[in-house]
Amino acid sequence: MKRFAIIPLILALCAGPILKAQEQPYVPSAENLAAREAFKDARFGIFIHWGIYSMMGDGEWVMERQQIPYDEYKRLAAGFYPSKFDAREWTSVFKQAGAKYITFTSRHHDGFSMFATKVSDYNIMDASPFKRDIVGELAKACAEDGLKLHLYYSHLDWGRNDYYPLGTTGHSAGRPEGDDTCWGHYMEFINAQLTELLTNYGPIGCIWFDGIWDRMKAQKGQDKLWNLRAQYDLIHSLQSGCLVGNNHHLPIFEGEDIQIFEKDVPGKNTAGFSGTSKISAGVPLETCQTIYHNWGYNINDYEYKSPETLIRFLVQTAGKGANLLLNVGPRPDGTLPEESVNRLLAMGKWLEKYGETIYGTEGGCVPEQSWGVTTQKDNILYVHVLNHAEAILVPVKGNKLLSAVSFENGEKVPFSQVGEGIVLSLPEMAEGCPDQIVTLKFKNSLPVD
Ligand code: GLC
Repeated sequence: MKRFAIIPLILALCAGPILKAQEQPYVPSAENLAAREAFKDARFGIFIHWGIYSMMGDGEWVMERQQIPYDEYKRLAAGFYPSKFDAREWTSVFKQAGAKYITFTSRHHDGFSMFATKVSDYNIMDASPFKRDIVGELAKACAEDGLKLHLYYSHLDWGRNDYYPLGTTGHSAGRPEGDDTCWGHYMEFINAQLTELLTNYGPIGCIWFDGIWDRMKAQKGQDKLWNLRAQYDLIHSLQSGCLVGNNHHLPIFEGEDIQIFEKDVPGKNTAGFSGTSKISAGVPLETCQTIYHNWGYNINDYEYKSPETLIRFLVQTAGKGANLLLNVGPRPDGTLPEESVNRLLAMGKWLEKYGETIYGTEGGCVPEQSWGVTTQKDNILYVHVLNHAEAILVPVKGNKLLSAVSFENGEKVPFSQVGEGIVLSLPEMAEGCPDQIVTLKFKNSLPVD
């Protein structure tokens, strides 16, 4: 670990004020609050799972899943040369998809850093022949294409000796046992890397943590074990507008700016990750989702979700007042699978026409109904009909409806105001249409949840 010795000293010098701040409740800065609003307005981002694991074509958990010893797994790095990687080609597709930000795996559970780090040799510059700073190239491409750059960062590490005691995973790595002094060293390493990421690549929209669930003790007294508050304070001290999110599947911890849900819209738990994720009030929400089953490139996974399914999921997420972070897993050569690109472009085409009903909206004051969901802006309610019926009830009371029109063509949609709300008589839904939208204009602004 090159030049690692000076890091504890630097951190020790910075630790005083940070430790004091940890005792205080977290008060987000004005810059942070503005960043939260911009984040909410964005509604759609692209997740990118890419690392040396992509060469194995078996997802990002391949080392663990195939029980590969770390010393052997590490050798993948020496063969990682994604000759077709072009950051600008990626960002151009993501922009056309209508996404406003990307979240890139700067370091996943295998511990390989996809950026130039001075605190570990196990990184793209030192351990691979590619010697190009992927995070740096993405930061530049994002700036050129007007996308925000968010960074995924794994707390969990399957290979380092100082990740000790081990958690529930990473036991097949064959690493020597550490001792009680290790954990502090590992925390210093994380803080040093976070400092690099937030110093060397311009504005970072969000640090997206993942993996503390590996040591479940984190659920009680998590601050002591993972020292999260100190990390969060460090992030906010380096870039106060940088949002902090943690995929721990729990209500947010002190110091976090957004709440993350995995594979389900907030409030649902069909995939089994959100059993304990009660929605935290007052923070932006984000749901991450795969485009096929896997996150990282999987050569045998062909079960892509259809463009219609993805559009409907985006609409459902927006209906819950949440962003969708939709994942792609680039191939080892650096290209994006065509099947993913086609779906992203289809979403972009849809958003070009219907984006007004998604971007900059709030989750609708009408909760999910059997026919679909709603989004809203001021006195406008967008009724998203996902399951067609000849007539539907939109339960808004005590607010005069001025007009109801089809978003598609501006034609009037017949309605009547009854005791329980508004009854809309819907026109036919065109075949293959993922979402029939009716725009309702009310006299007064609609309540925000
Ligand atoms: C899970 C997986 C991880 C993936 C993440 C994305 O935490 O462990 O591989 O990166 O979900 O949400």
